[in-house]
Amino acid sequence: MARSLDDLLTPALCIDVDRVEANLRRMQDYCSAHRLALRPHIKTHKLPAFARLQVRLGACGITCQKLGEAEVMADGGCDDILLSYEIVGRRNLRRLTDLAGRVRVTAVADSLAVALGLSEAASRAGLTLDVLVDGDTGYHRTGVSTPALAVELAQRIAALPGLRFAGLFTYPTLPATRSWLALALEGLRAAGLPAGTVSSGGTPGALSTHEVPEITELRVGTYIYNDRATIRQGVAGPDDCAATVLATVVSANDPERVILDAGSKALAADLLQHDPGLGHGDIAGYPAAVVRRLYEEHAVVDMTACPRLPAVGERVSVLPNHICAAVNLYDEAALVRGAAVLEVVPIAARGCSR
Ligand SMILES: Cc1ncc(COP(=O)(O)O)c(C=O)c1O
Repeated sequence: MARSLDDLLTPALCIDVDRVEANLRRMQDYCSAHRLALRPHIKTHKLPAFARLQVRLGACGITCQKLGEAEVMADGGCDDILLSYEIVGRRNLRRLTDLAGRVRVTAVADSLAVALGLSEAASRAGLTLDVLVDGDTGYHRTGVSTPALAVELAQRIAALPGLRFAGLFTYPTLPATRSWLALALEGLRAAGLPAGTVSSGGTPGALSTHEVPEITELRVGTYIYNDRATIRQGVAGPDDCAATVLATVVSANDPERVILDAGSKALAADLLQHDPGLGHGDIAGYPAAVVRRLYEEHAVVDMTACPRLPAVGERVSVLPNHICAAVNLYDEAALVRGAAVLEVVPIAARGCSR
């Protein structure tokens, strides 16, 4: 069993447990101070133990993107789950009602077609399912496009068997979100449909959520670990980053470059701000190094601006661009404090794309 970083096979995902706890407490304190319900998104860590810790610290429940993640989290003891994804298709609807038979589940819908599927499945299972209307307040992914359409869909949901209209849902919180939500809430009030929950999310804008008082619930995922993206967005510093990839230098034949054993299968190939020039990771101890190119198992690191090069065999810690995507590549994570490995845990909900 690994006892220290030196014992780990690389590439290895390492999680600094003290930083995790500090990040979780900071967000919980913010939400408690502003009377916001915190419903963390587990898509970042995918670990039932961290979901339970989030709830222990004060979260009202958790958010999962996919049914597979939710099934793993329910097995791991989470009993209040928001599925932040439109559930479509006979087999998925059956999985949803099976899940709703054992834990509290809230679903989202952005069309009558989705709502009808939920209604039929819930009725068949003899359940009443809470449903939030998903509104597109500027991101242009899922969501009804206007506040008027949100009110119309809420009315349809409220009239469908097996469903209870529970409020509004959007992602992320953008400059236009406040006026969009205010209009929708006004329409809902006029229609006699109170929105119990108004759920929004995203780590970049999380600590400004109180400026949109219409929001009652915050969904954040990345805040637990942070990454190069959240540093660049100005919402985290290097000391707030809790998850890194331990890699080994496997080749150093050129004075200007070294090769690490952590390619796209270890760091994920997501770019920072869609700009390949910004590289694929920060290397601790080598601030001027640029991870220029990723192959599946190789990272090509440009060392031109570095005063010294690591030797073959040296281990380095790499901070990925997008930590959620990187975590999804690992079967297990090493929970660490300093150089000590406390535990190696399976990432139980990794790869749950269905
Ligand atoms: C629907 C939804 N809610 C919340 C989040 C959490 O966002 P973040 O990881 O920026 O905190 C995401 C992230 O992808 C999301 O898709």
